[in-house]
Amino acid sequence: MFMSNFEQVLPEIINSLKSTSGEDFFNALTLQLCKHTGADYTLIARLNQERYSSKTISLVAKGLLAENFEYTLKNTPCAEVNSGSVCIYPKNICQLYPDDQLLIDMKIEGYIGIPLHDSHGKVIGLVVALHEEKIENSDFVVTLFELFSGRISAEIERTDREHELIELANTHESKVAERTKDLSQTLEHLKSAQQKLVQSEKMAALGKLTASIAHEINNPTNFTYAAVYMMLDEITKIKYFLKQLAGGDNADNEVLNSFDKQFGNLVELVQTANEGTIRIKNIVESLRTFSHLGRLKKEPAKVSQLIGSTINLIRTEYRDITIITDFEYDPILSCYPSKLNQVFMNLIINACQAINLRVEQLPIADKNFKGKITVKSQNEQNELLITITDNGCGMDETTQEKIFEPFYTTKDASNGTGLGMSVSFEVMQTHKGSIKISSQLNHGSTIILRLPIK
Ligand SMILES: Nc1ncnc2c1ncn2[C@@H]1O[C@H](COP(=O)(O)OP(=O)(O)O)[C@@H](O)[C@H]1O
Ligand SMILES: [Mg+2]
Repeated sequence: MFMSNFEQVLPEIINSLKSTSGEDFFNALTLQLCKHTGADYTLIARLNQERYSSKTISLVAKGLLAENFEYTLKNTPCAEVNSGSVCIYPKNICQLYPDDQLLIDMKIEGYIGIPLHDSHGKVIGLVVALHEEKIENSDFVVTLFELFSGRISAEIERTDREHELIELANTHESKVAERTKDLSQTLEHLKSAQQKLVQSEKMAALGKLTASIAHEINNPTNFTYAAVYMMLDEITKIKYFLKQLAGGDNADNEVLNSFDKQFGNLVELVQTANEGTIRIKNIVESLRTFSHLGRLKKEPAKVSQLIGSTINLIRTEYRDITIITDFEYDPILSCYPSKLNQVFMNLIINACQAINLRVEQLPIADKNFKGKITVKSQNEQNELLITITDNGCGMDETTQEKIFEPFYTTKDASNGTGLGMSVSFEVMQTHKGSIKISSQLNHGSTIILRLPIK
């Protein structure tokens, strides 16, 4: 027999609900209600007005928790509860609701249902007891249900709020994440745009400067070159004239020997001057090739010429470093020559600076270390592969990771802007090529460029 003594029942129920909430609370309470009412089935359900249905939150069948389910309110006593009434049918419920197939299938005899109201008084759910036998203690059941209905409604409302909060937090979080992603993308775009701007302005200025310097030096160099060339002619003439004055072939041998010696020195000096002017002409030519002033359309250019002219420029500043070229493959590229020159310039100067850094750090005993850069061009699976290898200071892992970031530099302000590698990266991308590095600290680095050939 079930107990019908509130003094004993209530403390037990309340005790079983201690520190439960949500699903645990509903299940614990339904089990208790089922136990103390002696019902065969007890359920707490939520009502859905749109679907005109009821969905169990907790269902206890014959003393055990069962799977929740949803059922329509049509033709059921629960529809009455939905309208706000307390329904008590101790017996004959199947005759009263002949179209409620569920009750018939379950062979239910007695039905008790009470509505659950939310804080605004709206019916939001129900508590139901189903008996297979006639209900003898309906007053007790109804009172017990009513005693806990407020607590159930409050818990339903609380879990609703909790879900809303979680949902809100989730959407908020995903919105924040979305925003953050947008912002960081924008930042990336800005950075790269800024970097391009800085670089293109710098290059335009440098190009103009280089071109006008080349132009200014070109004229005086040309006439110096011509003058030196003519001087050699003049010297031969003067020597002949003086020899005639001294008596021609009959002149004193000593005098003739002295002439030869003096003029020999003079000719040597003039030849040195001649070599010097030829070198200046080369440098000017390299400057002109390098600047290609502002011409930004694709042009054919030979790899060896691009690299060669860049190296000529660099050699004048880094005389102690041996730069070796090996153009095993030397195709004509359709490219932006001034941009590629800029890449070679950046990479070879980096290599020179790395070598100088290593030299500075060398112990005195190693002073016969020789800086060396090798530039190679090869054909690798129908791609142009250019490698620039130096035996400089090499790079640590952090530098290798960050090397292509604009403004990343390990040098002081007078030696580095941190743009060389990022610009080179950009230029290689514009040419649908790639740039990679391989480096070992204190041993050297290799920069690997790949370019498609059409
Ligand atoms: N060949 C190299 N050997 C060693 N370190 C290098 C080499 N090339 C680049 N680096 C490292 O990468 C950094 C970034 O290079 P770069 O973008 O050209 O900027 P910058 O030369 O102005 O510092 C350099 O500061 C240097 O630390
Ligand atoms: Mg650099």
